[in-house]
Amino acid sequence: MVKVSLVNILIADHRRLEGMFERCLDSHTRRDQEELVDKIIKTLAVHTMIEEEHVFPLLKELNKDDALEAYEEHHAIKVLVDELMNCKCDHDTVRAKVKVLGEIMEHHHEEEEKKLFPMLIESDFDLFDVGREMLEHKNDLERHVHIAISALHEEIAAGPCAASSKSKCAFAA
Ligand SMILES: [Fe+2]
Ligand SMILES: [Fe+2]
Repeated sequence: MVKVSLVNILIADHRRLEGMFERCLDSHTRRDQEELVDKIIKTLAVHTMIEEEHVFPLLKELNKDDALEAYEEHHAIKVLVDELMNCKCDHDTVRAKVKVLGEIMEHHHEEEEKKLFPMLIESDFDLFDVGREMLEHKNDLERHVHIAISALHEEIAAGPCAASSKSKCAFAA
């Protein structure tokens, strides 16, 4: 099996997501838009879940405040994803919602790639080992994406303190 660092896996996911946002914003038919929104929702549900389970616990050991902020950014992203999931608005309104989410994602990717991932690269963690476990989990979740979607719904239903309580749990671990 080829060894891939968790950082490379996540960055490839970021580029894939950004491509989906671009194609979604360029879509002219409701059907194309719906298909791409569905892809974005599923990809984001899996991506945020694997980061929170495999990456953020490492980050919290390196910098607690940065990790806490990352959990909160994920929470804000999930609020918008949840809204998109339930949205029955017209094409232009959905496009505007996707645009706002895309801009938040762009900021979040920049934070991860310029600040958080370099911290991991400089650390002593075995990023190939964690990468292998994370990839297995990612592949599994992609086959059973409802697990990631349900977790996202549950977090939003649990209210605004869900992300903080989750990160506190992680800090307590
Ligand atoms: Fe990410
Ligand atoms: Fe993230």
